[in-house]
Amino acid sequence: MINKNKISNLKKERRSFLKLTTFSVAAIGSSFAVWPFIDSMNPSADVLAQGIKEFDLSNIEEGSSKTVKWRGKPVFIKHRTKNEIEEARNVKLSELKDPQKDEDRVLKPEWLIVVGVCSHLGCIPSGQKVSDAKGDFNGWFCPCHGSHYDSSGRVRKGPAPRNLEVPKYKFIDTNKIKLG
Ligand code: FES
Repeated sequence: MINKNKISNLKKERRSFLKLTTFSVAAIGSSFAVWPFIDSMNPSADVLAQGIKEFDLSNIEEGSSKTVKWRGKPVFIKHRTKNEIEEARNVKLSELKDPQKDEDRVLKPEWLIVVGVCSHLGCIPSGQKVSDAKGDFNGWFCPCHGSHYDSSGRVRKGPAPRNLEVPKYKFIDTNKIKLG
């Protein structure tokens, strides 16, 4: 004969188990419901990749350069001297592999802003530091296969087919730019 207390205990245990199971399923269900909501509050990969960034140029002295990271790439910001501007503007377009006027590559003559990635196979050219090799045209030199860029970031010699890219940017203050 089955003991009544034993049956009662078994029923209690069964009820507890059902409650626990129901609670767990609800908890799991709600975590799935919450995740898309939390996820939707994060910026999408596209928004992150757009990477609009502001940079202050006031601490970059004339004749020096600064490298900033934007969209995972180095961007060269060069505060050009009068000589460098003149050099860049005195070049005939017929001498250039990728003909572009210096005036069309800058918003303000003293500030050259280019993506620091060689158009040949993507190395980062040297020339950002005063002590760096700057190539035969006083700009940048890509040691990977010997491409030379001038003080406007235009390719002048070597296998690189194109000038250093000018990214989309604008001045939002006298000495502040917004990239992107
Ligand atoms: S990657 Fe610059 S010259 Fe080849």
